[in-house]
Amino acid sequence: MVVTLRPEIAALQPYRQGRPAAPDAFKLSSNESPFPPLPAVLDAVAGSSFNRYPDAAATVLRTRLAERYGVPPEQVHTGSGSVAILQQLIQAAAGPGDEVLYAWRSFEAYPGLVTVSGATSVTVPLAPGEKHDLDAMAAAITDRTRVVIVCTPNNPTSVIVTADEFAAFMAKVPETVLVLLDEAYAEFVTDPDAVHGIPLLARHPNLVVLRTFSKAYGLAGLRVGYAIGPEYILDAARSTAIPLSVTEPAQRAALAALDNEAELLERVGVLIERRSEIENALAAQGWRLPPAHGNFIWLPTGAQTTAAAEVLEAHGIVARVFPPDGIRVSIGEPESVEKLLQATAQVVETLRETPENAGLG
Ligand SMILES: Cc1ncc(COP(=O)(O)O)c(C=O)c1O
Repeated sequence: MVVTLRPEIAALQPYRQGRPAAPDAFKLSSNESPFPPLPAVLDAVAGSSFNRYPDAAATVLRTRLAERYGVPPEQVHTGSGSVAILQQLIQAAAGPGDEVLYAWRSFEAYPGLVTVSGATSVTVPLAPGEKHDLDAMAAAITDRTRVVIVCTPNNPTSVIVTADEFAAFMAKVPETVLVLLDEAYAEFVTDPDAVHGIPLLARHPNLVVLRTFSKAYGLAGLRVGYAIGPEYILDAARSTAIPLSVTEPAQRAALAALDNEAELLERVGVLIERRSEIENALAAQGWRLPPAHGNFIWLPTGAQTTAAAEVLEAHGIVARVFPPDGIRVSIGEPESVEKLLQATAQVVETLRETPENAGLG
């Protein structure tokens, strides 16, 4: 190596994608929608004049989202995936010497985004039940904390933050600290106690809510997400963003998805039912799991994680493996369910030999 790189960047692992599945296996490693794109979305993409640059301000899409949420368009920001907006906001608020606080384990992109900004990650372990320990997180705020990320439902554990928990937390967070509520899986949440960030924006001047078209709306490959929050904070994100990165096909597809939302939310309903079916079957197998609220479930396989993932793979299930904590499995095609449950039944046999494991009662 000849060129001097920032040592903290050289030490980072480049992003590793969920592994591609063998042709007869199910790729349940990236929380994607198993449904193919709607014809109306395909038509919208095909109609794009992508010899031209896109509208840098995504005016039509932002206006549409603004109307939907009853906010001015200036309080909506779009990015090439909500992960791009996360990066922009972290960079806008935190730099060397500053701290960014989040729960761990949570979305695997957070540590890298913080390192790239030059700031320092401060992580707070999940509480029993795989949930955010918001009291401990509030207590971990220092005068160097610039950003707190709260992920609900949490990736990868699929556990929500409740409205009451979030209200108590926000009461303790100084208003100078930016709170990012990452709601990438909001559409899959049915629990009436869950927090929903957008109605809270009027109450908390330091709150930004992140949403995405990647999951419920099935546009993961087109890369479009959005943030709702105070205009000056989103302006700072816009200032750090690479211009023109939300492409015209992505903007048009997002609008077509909103035009056809009822059909897409029906699909979400199907996945929620499938999630319940899987949870019930897992409980019958002896798994003791907190309720899942995203389009994925979490198997806390602990020290057995690598071995358990091998069992899943042998059954044609490619999941996201986080040794030594557990395995995240997306809710996928109907045909994947039986294979998954056969695999988990076999994993149970292995785990029974290690009773300290939390996943089994
Ligand atoms: C919690 C969470 N936030 C954000 C994202 C980013 O989604 P996207 O960049 O596709 O909008 C993901 C994707 O997996 C996620 O799990």
